[in-house]
Amino acid sequence: MTAKTSLTGIKPTATPHLGNYLGAIRPALELSKTFRSFYFIADYHAITSVKDPVALRSYVHDVAATWLATGLDPERTVFFRQSDVPEVFELSWILSCLLATGQLERGHAYKDAIAKGEVANAGIFYYPVLMAADILLYDTNVVPIGKDQKQHLELCRDVAVRLNHVYGGKVLVVPEPHLSDAPLVPGLDGEKMSKSRGNAIPLFASAKELRKVVMKIATTSEPLEAPKDPEAATVWQLTRQLSPAVADAMAEKLRAGGYGWGHAKEDLYQALEAELGPKREVYAALRADEEKLDRVLAEGAEQARRVARATMARVREAIGIARPLQDLRSTVNLKRSDLGG
Ligand code: ADP
Ligand code: TRP
Repeated sequence: MTAKTSLTGIKPTATPHLGNYLGAIRPALELSKTFRSFYFIADYHAITSVKDPVALRSYVHDVAATWLATGLDPERTVFFRQSDVPEVFELSWILSCLLATGQLERGHAYKDAIAKGEVANAGIFYYPVLMAADILLYDTNVVPIGKDQKQHLELCRDVAVRLNHVYGGKVLVVPEPHLSDAPLVPGLDGEKMSKSRGNAIPLFASAKELRKVVMKIATTSEPLEAPKDPEAATVWQLTRQLSPAVADAMAEKLRAGGYGWGHAKEDLYQALEAELGPKREVYAALRADEEKLDRVLAEGAEQARRVARATMARVREAIGIARPLQDLRSTVNLKRSDLGG
């Protein structure tokens, strides 16, 4: 274990699907074996789009149970809710004062919303600042990200460098991206698997449902005997992301002929079931105990806040903002009357 920190935020905007697992969860869990890790549920980011409080609460628990069931160990990873560490807003404001509005206007998510003629809320505009604060608050060294988050990380690095430059010192750690070069996980239709496209494979559907969904993967219609090209097939691409060993064997059988797409889907289903079956049971037990999930997240938040407070003490000091009143009280021993209360 190095002393370096990896951090990622997970937006609770849906129940995680196979694309989230293969593209984000599994690699982040791998990283947590060698890094000190801070993984959090970005509930304040989610409210730029989720306006239903019942759904939001439910997604938070879905996400928490998913990460714990897939192997996150809260003894090794600081796992918490973003909203339990309000220091992140204090840092966001400070960062805003160092950022040109033009840099936020060039943000992908904001530009896309405008291009679609949507009325973008200011939260979408401000999103990258909150994300930068998420990262910088915990002295993060590496952030595992997909290509879609590259621009956000660039902005985070820019503002950290600027703060250090303006305030003359190494106040903030400048993080590095840990960019995944894995191709995107395709959905049932061969396009990027995504909750909004309705092409996702659910992570914890029952074995029966999972099989049914896998059988829906789009294929071409060569006869069973024909040799087939694995590379172009969604079923093979999915298998490769799940398990290179199973994919190699599948490629050989496809190229040889006498092995149909139905067979390939069956092999993919078996590989999925082997990976997800045992986790499904753990998920169900965890998801049924929301109090326990809340407790795990609250314990993580305690640890996260200790680091956040230390960072904020450093930042406040550097920028010339007094220490918070509760700190002063303990050192100066102020009485209520001194505070006018
Ligand atoms: P969705 O695209 O379904 O809305 P999110 O945008 O909430 O999913 O993505 C959450 C995380 O999962 C991100 O880190 C994203 O890069 C990753 N992810 C989502 N879909 C895929 C996919 N099809 N392939 C690989 N990674 C993905
Ligand atoms: N923006 C990320 C996403 O859309 C979620 C996120 C919020 C995040 N804060 C973060 C990711 C900090 C990495 C680091 O998926």
